[in-house]
Amino acid sequence: KHVARNDMNAKWDFNQEQADQLGSIQFSENHKIWSQLKMIQLTEKDLGMLHMAQPFLLPWLDEISEAFYESVLQVGSLKEMINQHSSVEKLQITLRKHIEEMFDGFINEAYVEKRMRIASIHYRIGLEPKWYMGAFQKVQAVVFERLMMHAANPQLAIEVVHSFNKVLNLEQQLVLE
Ligand code: HEM
Repeated sequence: KHVARNDMNAKWDFNQEQADQLGSIQFSENHKIWSQLKMIQLTEKDLGMLHMAQPFLLPWLDEISEAFYESVLQVGSLKEMINQHSSVEKLQITLRKHIEEMFDGFINEAYVEKRMRIASIHYRIGLEPKWYMGAFQKVQAVVFERLMMHAANPQLAIEVVHSFNKVLNLEQQLVLE
């Protein structure tokens, strides 16, 4: 799964027919998250689309993560915060993994708990919501760029981007709670 494709110039494409069977939403029937999922119309098909796109995104994850921190580091107070609590090198690796997981194709209680835990880590270090939200914009922009730039089928790529935006929105719902 972690092996980057050798041919980084090849354009990605896939057959989306079985996407709805490949994605999975695993919560108990009365879980409060269902109404949030319904509001943004995040479905198993969305998760399946992300799952199918994941192998094509892998070669670009390092670049995506670097671009993210480049923009965060432009804010002096955020740079200080990172150096005080961690390092750019470490965080690039955790962010890379985090974005990769957004394309795994399933969400469950552990997924939600992990996001809540990440939110509390950021709260603890004093990251203000305005910066947290600004950072999400960068994640969205760089993933969008890479997906679109290397797509053989722009219509399909737009659908994947759409599904990704829903998962990103869910994450914002979770971390701002
Ligand atoms: C830690 C993701 C924004 C600073 C982390 C971790 C993840 C993550 C996955 C690792 C948590 C763990 O240890 O398991 C994200 C995402 C962001 C975001 C998805 C936005 C969309 C930011 C911003 C800053 C930042 C804007 C700027 C200061 C840090 C620091 C840690 C951290 C310093 C390490 C905290 C510690 O270990 O004490 N982040 N992050 N993050 N993040 Fe972020």
